[in-house]
Amino acid sequence: MVGQVIWWSCPMRTPLIITLLLLLISTTTANLRRDSPTNGLCTQLIEPYGYPCSEYITQTEDGYLLGLQRVSSRSGIVQNQKGPPVLLVHGLFMAGDAWFLDSQEESLGFILADHGFDVWVANVRGTRWSHGHISLSENDKEFWDWTWQDLALYDLAEMTRYIFSMTDSKIYIVGHSQGTIMSLAALTQPDIAKRVEGAALLSPISYLDHVSAPLVLRMVKMRLDEVILALGIHELNFKSELGTHIMDIMCHGHLECGDMLTSITGGNCCFNNSRVDFYLKYEPHPSSSKNLNHLFQMIRQGTFSMYDYGKWKNLVNYGKLQPPTFDLSKIPKSLPLWMGYGGADALADVIDVQHTLNELPSKPYLLYLEQYGHIDFLLSVNCKQDVYDNMMGFFNSNGKHSSY
Ligand SMILES: *[C@@H]1O[C@H](CO)[C@@H](O)[C@H](O)[C@H]1NC(C)=O
Repeated sequence: MVGQVIWWSCPMRTPLIITLLLLLISTTTANLRRDSPTNGLCTQLIEPYGYPCSEYITQTEDGYLLGLQRVSSRSGIVQNQKGPPVLLVHGLFMAGDAWFLDSQEESLGFILADHGFDVWVANVRGTRWSHGHISLSENDKEFWDWTWQDLALYDLAEMTRYIFSMTDSKIYIVGHSQGTIMSLAALTQPDIAKRVEGAALLSPISYLDHVSAPLVLRMVKMRLDEVILALGIHELNFKSELGTHIMDIMCHGHLECGDMLTSITGGNCCFNNSRVDFYLKYEPHPSSSKNLNHLFQMIRQGTFSMYDYGKWKNLVNYGKLQPPTFDLSKIPKSLPLWMGYGGADALADVIDVQHTLNELPSKPYLLYLEQYGHIDFLLSVNCKQDVYDNMMGFFNSNGKHSSY
């Protein structure tokens, strides 16, 4: 999400539509700077700190090749038996690197590894740590024909299947932002839920109709998502060459990136502003225009439903005029849930979180932090004390893995 700061910053200085066109042109000439597996996330961001890390590739039912990393503790730190697998599911315009962007004492990926958890790192289709598709190229429009519902029903389904087969153990899921949309949607599906031991959701989202971030609301009102699709742009890649150039100019000019982030996510109390340049080495990752369209539909319509193609195409795709909803009451009552949400989060608004809670059959463990905003749950310098210790308490007190 952090990288968005730059992208969204553009409209403030230049007429929105011109900025948009520039960025869109840049996406069509995008260089895919995909790293080879030998120079992957493990090599770049995890092994240098002394953590054993392995790269895996797994294939979804619809042919996408996803990258997964598996991280364990630095030798000597954990003496006890290996903990349960935990799958970290990143947010929109991010990837698995999101969990390793700060120090070993601050980043959830490192912290969980040091506490003995068997850490697995998700990277959804389209991100730079995923590995393309068996038959489609990233230049094909079809490659980008997906939204978060596919990330839930194909990517998360496959990743949990793969980890379950490798570890023979049920999995804890940790999601942030879009990772929580994916998790909640996936957990309504019995064949995915049966492989999940519990889920911890940071900035949990299912309903989005109380989003209060001013810049997001403006984009929604302008129907920017529909404009982008109408222009035939299917990939949103802000790290293309021209895109990068424009972003650099925008962010290192007179603009206050922190202010901009506030108008997209709400205020963030506690992340380290002087690390933004480092974050931007990794973020933002690409996503699809259709995904943005789906998210904006949710804001406009107040639904937690599948993608809305319009009546007649819905009939073709789903056999009915309205897209099917994800029914939160179908999440197994016995499946333990934990949620961390913030009073300053303008994307996961407290009213929408309450809406989610009202529809869940079980009562999740809740951690409410008045001051926390959307990004804080990932990058706050106090996240371990404020959030992650509580989350690990939930994992450890929960059933058969309570012994360590
Ligand atoms: C903030 O980031 C800077 C630059 O990386 C670092 O030197 C400093 O220690 C960080 N502060 C905290 C509290 O993490």
